[in-house]
Amino acid sequence: MTPDEALSLDQLAIEQKFELEDLLDKGSLGEMCRSFESLFELPVRIYSSSGALLADTQGVPSLYRYLEKAKAGRRAVQDVATGVRRAEPLPGAPVLIEGVPGVLYQASLIEHEGRSLGRIILGPYTDDSQNEPPAALFDLVEELAGEGIAQEWANLPSLSSLAIGRLERHLRATLELLLFSGLKAHMASHMHMASVRESFRELSERNQKLKDAYERLKELDRLKSNFLATVSHELRTPLTSIIGYSEMLLEGIAGEVQEEQKEFVETIHEKGEQLLELIKSLLDLSKLESGTMSLHKVATTGDAIVKDVVSTLTPTAHKKGVYLLSASEADLPPMLADPERMRQVLINLTENALKFTPKGGSVTLSAVHKKEAASDMGGGGSVLMGAVRRSVIEFSVADTGIGISDAEKKRVFDAFYQVDSSSTREAGGTGLGLSIVQRLVDGHDGKISIEDNDPQGSVFIVTVPLKKPPTT
Ligand SMILES: Nc1ncnc2c1ncn2[C@@H]1O[C@H](COP(=O)(O)OP(=O)(O)OP(=O)(O)O)[C@@H](O)[C@H]1O
Ligand SMILES: [Mg+2]
Repeated sequence: MTPDEALSLDQLAIEQKFELEDLLDKGSLGEMCRSFESLFELPVRIYSSSGALLADTQGVPSLYRYLEKAKAGRRAVQDVATGVRRAEPLPGAPVLIEGVPGVLYQASLIEHEGRSLGRIILGPYTDDSQNEPPAALFDLVEELAGEGIAQEWANLPSLSSLAIGRLERHLRATLELLLFSGLKAHMASHMHMASVRESFRELSERNQKLKDAYERLKELDRLKSNFLATVSHELRTPLTSIIGYSEMLLEGIAGEVQEEQKEFVETIHEKGEQLLELIKSLLDLSKLESGTMSLHKVATTGDAIVKDVVSTLTPTAHKKGVYLLSASEADLPPMLADPERMRQVLINLTENALKFTPKGGSVTLSAVHKKEAASDMGGGGSVLMGAVRRSVIEFSVADTGIGISDAEKKRVFDAFYQVDSSSTREAGGTGLGLSIVQRLVDGHDGKISIEDNDPQGSVFIVTVPLKKPPTT
């Protein structure tokens, strides 16, 4: 937080408007006023600046009850409340109010830093310099012959102006103590609120920025996928012609081809096929990334796919001098998968295994039926229950090749990533195979992992569930 921001927080706290009732606990205020009255026998009332009565130690005085028996007296008593409420004391200058004749109240201001927070009303009381009620009081109850009025009047506390001033100062000092601690608590909670609000604002701002950046990246990613799809598509059409025409040349459709010319055309044909494979991979990747590739899942047997892949790649293995073996379990239950895409997964993995295994080595494909442990599924909570296990077909492609170090195991699934990307690298390829494989496996709700083979080489393990997991 910069000093400027800290300053604005302070100001915020100070500028905040608070009322007397925000600072004082009504219960403690009432308690304090009651003990004041029991000590000095002088009733107290506290009003907030909005006119709310926060404390009142005395109900209706018995003198008023007496006066209410006569018509004029009742009117005079009714006016007392209005008179007291309308009193407007100034800072440091209390005002005296005469309720009914000879009955006094003193109103004084409660203020904080020049702002009025409320009023203290002391009374009713009588002036101790007056020994008997004024004649005007008797006039109010003329119809009752004035009997007992002097007694009621004498029951009120009698105080000198000096004494009332002293009591008012004493009450004010106690009140200020209560106000001070109330103010401290109020400021602390307000500052806390303000800083929470500020943190929240900062966080929302950052959140918005992140959201914007995310949207921009998503849009860029979409554009990239679109671009990839369009370019790949546009490249494929002329390439098909190149391959087609080179095949026609080789077949001699356009006339006799000499031996040397044949070699050249064969190279054109071979490179054309390689380029077509690359373009197909790019198209697949862009479809997988944009989520537009649809998988046609049907009941598929894993061992049939393994057999098919082995027979497809046996010539390649043979050419390299690598043994290609299969070791699948018999009678595997069918899984829900797109057979063509699962074949693509295994072809990719097996091609890699053959590519990175030197002459004399072996590559073994297998498919087995397994129960996948709950912990393997990433459902942390269900490990404890130990009950959730799903049935899977586990494919594995094990080779005795150069192996993959632990640090590289995660990275090989990134698009265009190759462990050795030097120009002297013998194995060809573009580094797209595994990223396509990973996405196809994801599309089957499956998982892929790499383990070390013993004593050397790597094992790629792919698991595909037999059924679609229930959607919760
Ligand atoms: N069986 C394996 N043994 C050793 N290294 C491997 C094996 N499979 C993959 N790799 C490493 O992972 C990298 C990425 O593999 P990937 O299949 O994605 O790309 P590629 O085979 O190089 O090219 P492409 O598959 O696009 O033709 C490879 O270049 C290689 O370095
Ligand atoms: Mg590959």
